[in-house]
Amino acid sequence: MFSVTCIAPVNIAIVKYWGKRHEELILPINDSISMTLGTNELCAKTTIAASEGFQHNRMWLNDDELPVEEDSRLMRCLKGVQRLALANGSQKVSLSWKVHIASRNNFPTAAGLASSAAGYACLVYSLARLYGVPINEELTTIARQGSGSACRSLYGGFVQWHRGALEDGSDSVAKPVVSAQHWPNMHVLILVVNDERKKTSSTKGMQRSVTTSQLIQHRVDKIVPERTANLRKAIEARDFPSFAEITMKDSNQFHAIALDTYPPCVYMNDVSHAIVDFVHSYNETIGEVQAAYTFDAGPNACIYVLKENVAKLLAAVQKVFPNDATESVEYLRGITVSDTVEKHPAFNGTLNVQPKNLLKYIIHTKVGDGPCQLSDDDSLLTNGLPLSH
Ligand code: DP6
Repeated sequence: MFSVTCIAPVNIAIVKYWGKRHEELILPINDSISMTLGTNELCAKTTIAASEGFQHNRMWLNDDELPVEEDSRLMRCLKGVQRLALANGSQKVSLSWKVHIASRNNFPTAAGLASSAAGYACLVYSLARLYGVPINEELTTIARQGSGSACRSLYGGFVQWHRGALEDGSDSVAKPVVSAQHWPNMHVLILVVNDERKKTSSTKGMQRSVTTSQLIQHRVDKIVPERTANLRKAIEARDFPSFAEITMKDSNQFHAIALDTYPPCVYMNDVSHAIVDFVHSYNETIGEVQAAYTFDAGPNACIYVLKENVAKLLAAVQKVFPNDATESVEYLRGITVSDTVEKHPAFNGTLNVQPKNLLKYIIHTKVGDGPCQLSDDDSLLTNGLPLSH
């Protein structure tokens, strides 16, 4: 038996991918740009074992076994990496052997926290390591076929997924924009509003938007090309205010398109909208744009903020969103903020204090180096799952 264990990062889109021009190949209608997050706080971990003795391909996600259908995204990724292995003549492990795959996230699955991105990136990367396939741009075309956003999780830093123009999708690839070292003080606070599964999956929601939204084509033709170019410039210049404005406007536009979908897709809730109001009032009070929200297909907020401004922002979040659990280690997760400002005088009377306990917890993370990597910890093999027999 051969086995590998790998970890992969989460990425959060700044210019959102929303809509496909090919469902099976997962070819997007527009480019997207994301930031990869640190793996200490958020990652997927996958162990894959291959053996002559295995009867079937099997898969466990967060300890529950899932059926492996022949036409599933998982099988498309498996066959895709096997094709690359054949083409490269790199066959460390026989392609006829069945595989057992176990994957786990250290964060809530399907809560709009990009779990499928990390999960499929980890799957495809682990398969590449298992079969000895080179880790390169071509691999992003396979990850894309697991979940579109997954192709961006193969790299660290800021990443652009180019929509491509070819019918076979070979030019629909993810490429790094800049590495994490370029803007190492870019931090993120994830305000977890609700970690239950979302009502309409991204896959279904975007299908419905493509067929019913009258706004989406304008976004594709006009807005996204301008925004991606301007966002790249802002990132290259480390210009936070421009970065922040593009980030917030794109999040708002994505949710406007979700609402323009018929029947509408409602991903944000009242707490999400209270967070939007809070961030705008906060920036206004400070007199400078120091925080930028973005929401994926769920109610949780990711707030981009530079490291030097994290403590101040966190103090304001704690004040506006009071919580009985504030003191518990479970409430504030991730990178420690040692110098939390208890009360920022500038906020007195200017920010609307919300009812208690609207947030479940907060994760503090930052831009991650990525990339996916091998891990020594193969505990998924020994934690009772029948991975090895
Ligand atoms: C709102 O990548 O989850 O997070 O390709 O159908 O699996 P599928 O969709 P998925 O969609 C992500 C949508 C988004 C925006 C983004 O990550 O760019």
